[in-house]
Amino acid sequence: MRKRNKVTIIGAGHVGGTAAQRLAEKEIADVVLIDIAADMPKGKALDLSETAPIYGYDSLLTGSDDYETTAGSDVVVITSGIPRKPGMSRGDLLRVNAKIVKEVTQAVVKRSPESILIVVSNPLDAITYVAYRTSGFPKERVMGMAGVLDSARFRSFLAMELKVSVENIQTLVLGGHGDSMVPLPRYTTVAGIPIMDLLSKEKLDTILQRTRDGGAEIVKLLKTGSAYFAPSAAIIEMVEAILKDKKKILPCSALCQSEYKLEDVFIGVPVKLGKDGIEEILEIELTADESRSLLRSANAVKALCKEVDTVISS
Ligand code: NAI
Ligand code: 2OP
Repeated sequence: MRKRNKVTIIGAGHVGGTAAQRLAEKEIADVVLIDIAADMPKGKALDLSETAPIYGYDSLLTGSDDYETTAGSDVVVITSGIPRKPGMSRGDLLRVNAKIVKEVTQAVVKRSPESILIVVSNPLDAITYVAYRTSGFPKERVMGMAGVLDSARFRSFLAMELKVSVENIQTLVLGGHGDSMVPLPRYTTVAGIPIMDLLSKEKLDTILQRTRDGGAEIVKLLKTGSAYFAPSAAIIEMVEAILKDKKKILPCSALCQSEYKLEDVFIGVPVKLGKDGIEEILEIELTADESRSLLRSANAVKALCKEVDTVISS
């Protein structure tokens, strides 16, 4: 009998809890939710198990603070971390989350040495680098989630402006997850029609800026946290592509070692996702301006990675 897929989600907070719900509802894996808080993941897993008869799924849900329950996972999603607190610099947050992700990665890879890691904790690209260095996994099995979310935000803003179905809109957002992200209007179409034929430059520039500020816009509205509905949906698109070996092209943070003339940096690029993880990094043609923006973004990520090197080697 074919073994069921097993997905562990580290961090049972807003993003992790919602990702568990989405995964269970899709019935593509059993789910283990882990958190440093002992009872909370148990509570969420039980609540989701009690939802199962109504929604009609048979996915098994387990909540725990014990890493033994994660053994043999096919995919591990890392969402653990803390948000920025008053008085904390970005660098302080970076070091705290790097330390948390280093510890959870060590605990996870020992028990699931063949798993694929999807990192979500911020600052995304630098923290994905921490998980990669700590895990000792090949680069194909460590990636960060950001481009799917950033592209979804761009697509939804375009659909709102053009009053068309979101399904008609195809786009790519590359680069680091943050101010330096690189949305690509040249690769953006509406039912195959180039976006530049449908929107003025001014309108497009406004939407591009809203996309770059997408995370901050939600934080400002929620006041007590950051986005989790769209982020969890983006995670599940990646998990599903891997578990179903879909060979789906998605923008993900991947280790570029010569691609796009970038050296040893995790950055958002189009990849092919299948059962082996990142099966290929697609090198699409970029203009000089687009290449410069990607390089600028990569340099910003590299500066953060330098700051966490001490955490990794401590
Ligand atoms: P949250 O605060 O609701 O959940 C984080 C959870 O991590 C908490 O339950 C906390 O107890 C847990 N945690 C902390 N230290 C831990 C440890 N050592 N071991 C296990 N669990 C631990 O935060 P939320 O909203 O779920 O966000 C999680 C992370 O994802 C944040 O870093 C956030 O910035 C990031 N994020 C990234 C996105 C992306 O596009 N890459 C999108 C949305 C959020
Ligand atoms: C976002 O973009 C906080 O990174 C998170 O919503």
